[in-house]
Order: sequence, then structure tokens, then C-alpha cells
Amino acid sequence: ASLSKIKERGILIVGTEPTFPPFEFVDQNNNIVGFDIDIAKKVASELGVELKILNLPFDSLIPAIMSDKIDLIIAGMTITNKRAKVIDFSIPYFNANQSIVVRKGENFSPKSLEDLKGKKVAVQLGTTGDLVVSKIKGIKVTRFQKFTDAFLELQNKRVDAVVLDEAVANAYVKKFQKFLISSVIDTGEKYGIGVKKGNKELLDFVNSVISNMFKSPYDILVEKWF
Ligand code: ARG
Repeated sequence: ASLSKIKERGILIVGTEPTFPPFEFVDQNNNIVGFDIDIAKKVASELGVELKILNLPFDSLIPAIMSDKIDLIIAGMTITNKRAKVIDFSIPYFNANQSIVVRKGENFSPKSLEDLKGKKVAVQLGTTGDLVVSKIKGIKVTRFQKFTDAFLELQNKRVDAVVLDEAVANAYVKKFQKFLISSVIDTGEKYGIGVKKGNKELLDFVNSVISNMFKSPYDILVEKWF
């Protein structure tokens, strides 16, 4: 919705897919928390409205914003040319690469995507991980809505690897000691907040919140006094 509409209704509706720690995940109390959620809270508080988080499959976030079901996508979403044709993105707020995660203690340590040829790989449907893996001929790709299910599949030896964003791979590997990152694929991705195409007022507002978050107390003093 437009900036004025959001203020009028007093609620900012943010869509995310919460199997993506530490950006968004469900905690012990069944709350959706994380880095992105704190950014969402910041945007809502700067707007002076309540925050509502909608839990959606990752591949329905873009349709949801196009149909005005949500106001923003904050979901560790990589800015890609294809996505930027249908939604607008904020300035980048995080850098990312893809990682290959395998089971520990087995003789399989892929160092590149090529090493995954002839293997079974789990990804999250519609992610950049899905994209890079699907480009390589000969990889058997299984697509999941939830990363938790992709890792269950790896644990149960029904796939040989999971490919996903590096920071998130780190979080899963730390949590489940049975996995390890066998390599990082330098994809040079950047995350942005998604806004409905053409909603310039909201986009500008989000950009100002992000750039203010980047400012150090020192930067703020310089801006104040010079
Ligand atoms: N960065 C990747 C992408 O944009 C994965 C994002 C997945 N995010 C999530 N909340 N499940 O495709």
C-alpha cells in the first residue's frame, strides 16, 4: 500500500519466509525473529505504525506484493535483474554468496557446482540457490518450500547436498553438528527490501531508514556540526 494508506491503517505488513536464520526464523516461543525482523521493526517504528509479519512461501512473496497482500518483502531476498523487472528494490543491505552443505564424515566434499553433477541437491524453491544449481546439467534438483525440510532430506541421506546462502548455511551447520560447508560459490549477491513497483514514496522511506542504520554515531555528529 501507499505510505499514507499504511499510516492510516496503522499497520505495516511485511512478508517473509522464516526458515532462513539468522535473518528470519521461528524461535522457542514460536515468534518470528532475526536480523530482517529487526529491520522491519525499525521501519515500522520510524513510520509510527504496528508491525505485522506474514509467513509465506518464498516463491509467493513477489506475487503477494504485486497483489497488495503485503507492503514489503524483507526476506534476505537477493536483488536480481529478473526480480527487479516486477518489483522495486531498496538499496542493498547485506552481501551474500552461495554455499554447498554436505554431511560430515563422508567422502564427498564438492568444491564447485561442477562437482555436484550426477548428485542429488536440495534447494529452496525460487531462490538464487535454486537458480545456480538448476543451470548445471546433470544435477538432480529437489526443491523445497522450507530450508528445514531441505536439511531433513540431507540428514536422511535422500540428497547429497544443500545449496543456500552462506550466512544461513553457517547458522544451520552450527545448529546441526552433522553438516559442514564444503565450499562457497562466489555469486556476489546483495539483499534488498522489496517494494511494489512504482511505490516511490514507500521505497524512498525504506531507503532513508536503511541509510540511517548505516550511519555511525560519528557520522551523525559530522552531519550535525559541519
Ligand atoms: N537470497 C536468496 C534469494 O533471494 C535466498 C533467500 C531466501 N529467503 C528466505 N527468507 N527463505 O533467492
